[in-house]
Amino acid sequence: MQHLIRTSDFSKEEILSLFDDARDFLTSKPNEILKGKIIVTLFFENSTRTRSSFEIAAKRLGAEVVSLDVGSSSTSKGETIYDTVANINAMKPDAIIIRHSECGLPETLVGYVDCPILNAGDGRHSHPTQALLDLFTIYEHFDGKTDGKKIGIVGDVRNSRVAGSNRRLLPRFGIEVNLIAPDCFKYESDDFKQFSTIAEVIDDLDIVMSLRSQLERHNLTYFESLNEYAKDFCITSELMADKDILLLHPGPVNRNIDITDEMLKDPRCKVLEQVTNGVAIRAAVLKKLILA
Ligand code: CP
Repeated sequence: MQHLIRTSDFSKEEILSLFDDARDFLTSKPNEILKGKIIVTLFFENSTRTRSSFEIAAKRLGAEVVSLDVGSSSTSKGETIYDTVANINAMKPDAIIIRHSECGLPETLVGYVDCPILNAGDGRHSHPTQALLDLFTIYEHFDGKTDGKKIGIVGDVRNSRVAGSNRRLLPRFGIEVNLIAPDCFKYESDDFKQFSTIAEVIDDLDIVMSLRSQLERHNLTYFESLNEYAKDFCITSELMADKDILLLHPGPVNRNIDITDEMLKDPRCKVLEQVTNGVAIRAAVLKKLILA
């Protein structure tokens, strides 16, 4: 049985095949590919995009979705997450989608289930479906010619699981990853070019991916305020000028901290296209793992 814990669980060929399915799902009507299947979502952290897009994807493929309200589940009575998942598994679902603040937790659950586990984000470790939809958005924009393209991932690259998954996935498709962050958010690694300002590298970039400061994973005592941070790291129309750059953000966007209102309206900004692609990619992943 195949799970999706991290993007390396899929080969390059499998990812390209997911993209073929996602492309079809973007234009096709709802169908019954997963009719009779039941998918459980367990979100122990907040979510707007990932949870609803998994649920919409499942419903578009004819599956039923059961979303456990973790706030009122028996974990609040002291049940361990392992027992919770073993009990859900005993009800024989066809897939379990989980988001949790603990790095590595989804992988440890694999031994407790008889169905695929899909990691919807574990702490600062991984967010594989986000990275897949980001890559899909890039891939479609450049008509599949990703080799040699350069991305700047900007902001809290140390604490962002989106950055974690993307810096592992994008180089597999020939994309050079540049990390742009203040010292306090730097990801210590010699594998990537590192910059302290956007201005010094933006002329070389084909893609900018802005990130939200992960305030739930640290406190922002490094800066006097988010506005102070924004002076150097917000994506503005002055920075972008008339450059031919694809602008991405996984959401949620802190307006005028991560990206200005003006740039969010700019046609180069594909934030909502990423969200649309997210439904298609998650549908492709559900189809692959459940029907395997
Ligand atoms: N990008 C992302 O994971 O958004 P949500 O937290 O809203 O799911």
